[in-house]
Amino acid sequence: MRSLREPTKRLLKSPAKSGPKKTELIVALDFPEGESALKVMRTCADLPVVWKIGSELFLAEGPDWVRERTKEGFRIFLDLKFHDIPNTVMKSAVQAASLGIEMFTLHLAGGPNMIRAVRDELEKKVTGKKEGKRPSSEARRPLILGVSVLTSFDQPTWDDVSFAVGGKTAKVADSVKRLVSQARYWGVDGVVCSPHEIKTVRAADPLLFTVVPGIRPKGAKAGDQARVMTPKEAATLGAGAIVCGRPVTESKTPKTVIEKILRELDTPVGMPVKES
Ligand code: C5P
Repeated sequence: MRSLREPTKRLLKSPAKSGPKKTELIVALDFPEGESALKVMRTCADLPVVWKIGSELFLAEGPDWVRERTKEGFRIFLDLKFHDIPNTVMKSAVQAASLGIEMFTLHLAGGPNMIRAVRDELEKKVTGKKEGKRPSSEARRPLILGVSVLTSFDQPTWDDVSFAVGGKTAKVADSVKRLVSQARYWGVDGVVCSPHEIKTVRAADPLLFTVVPGIRPKGAKAGDQARVMTPKEAATLGAGAIVCGRPVTESKTPKTVIEKILRELDTPVGMPVKES
């Protein structure tokens, strides 16, 4: 049997090669319809922000709405957390990439075959990369981000799941560590993790790009986020990108909130190299 830690593939491109970059800001557009989302996006169109579209908005507005936004120049993170058999996820990822998005999520629990099928197909289809052929420098594939253990799991609930799957319980932190230490070998560019997991993830694999929700600027309401961090704290720990939703979308002045967060994000950290 193969050991969990045994590298199964060549190491993928290192983020360090692209040089130091600032932590990016991702704004979660958790709206039930597109009009409200578009209002915020248009107000802040001149700011360097990636917009996160989850299942709710995607199901309300559909792929054409997303395509229109990317055509307008908005940078989109499609957060649909794919998890299915390799062929199905691979085909879904190709559809997602065709919308012109910048990044998307899948579950690491989908395993190496699912993730490699996605990575190989995207490189082949989107970038035209084949043995012995130079890909077009214009072509870009979206970043593949892996979800490890959802932060909504508390330990007792994860005990139930890990016992049901493996016959014994596992600590959430250990499961996260094991999954993320395999993640890049399996084909992802980065992972989604809570602010309190940044250190664990970077210790397991310092080259993984981290996307970090649970961010609250000083003075903002935590809402249902149990353990939050400020943009500056997460950036200092090495977050590749932070995700902030309601403090922006529920504000009467979203542009002012975003500008304040961007001013806080001054820490140079690595960004992944997008293969062309
Ligand atoms: O409004 P708020 O800043 O809490 O939004 C955070 C966003 O990040 C939401 O879209 C939420 O679904 C997402 N997210 C999260 N925690 C995770 C994964 C995703 O809050 N572990």
